[in-house]
Amino acid sequence: MPESQVLAGLTVIITAGPTREAIDPVRFISNRSSGKMGFAVARAAADAGATVVLVAGPVSLRTPDNIERIEVQSANDMQGAVHERIGSAHVLIAAAAVADYRPVERATRKIKKSGDTMNLHLVKTPDVLAGVAALENGPFCVGFAAETNDLEANALKKLKKKNLDMIAANLVGDEKGFDSDENALTVYWHGGQEILPAATKQRLAEQLVELIGRRYWSSRSGGESGES
Ligand code: CTP
Repeated sequence: MPESQVLAGLTVIITAGPTREAIDPVRFISNRSSGKMGFAVARAAADAGATVVLVAGPVSLRTPDNIERIEVQSANDMQGAVHERIGSAHVLIAAAAVADYRPVERATRKIKKSGDTMNLHLVKTPDVLAGVAALENGPFCVGFAAETNDLEANALKKLKKKNLDMIAANLVGDEKGFDSDENALTVYWHGGQEILPAATKQRLAEQLVELIGRRYWSSRSGGESGES
């Protein structure tokens, strides 16, 4: 448990897990996110003194102590839940692996097989994080970037494009990332970066929360020096 109470007095919203985008009543599009990193961050934020609201997609993880959990299914649900609470939030940490596309329509009945091929017409889901980062007087926004390659370039691109305060980037694929209990992160912000070497997701989450707390207070005191 981190000794520091770096988030004391702050409300932190954390998104975690995958989303499910319904095709019909029995099928959906989703991804391999386990939710472990987001849940670890939620626990670490609560341990660091924050009031934590965890907006979680469908995962089978126990809710950490002293945390309010709101369960959602789709990207639209996640956006709705986050926006409902965003007015009281000081920090948003978006650890969810939100599906980027959803079927244009959800069939009301189970789709029966017919031809040898089938087309699904998909449309972009709302970007929950970018939507909050675009708010005037919005919270301090932290994103995650899971990349198979070009970690730094891709992470910096997302930091800028989504107008984030920080982004935590990690490599995924093969054994790395998703369902594992270990990970490694490189955290970027405008003018600085810090490497958090391979460790358990809980240990990484504690270090990340400490870093977020320090950057949050420095940005609020006008001390945007860019130094770590
Ligand atoms: N995110 C979000 N809503 C979405 C998509 C992503 O809130 N609809 C958030 C994620 O929680 C994460 C960050 O944005 O913090 C990831 O950025 P994104 O560019 O969407 O990453 P990828 O989905 O990996 O994008 P790409 O497939 O282009 O690499």
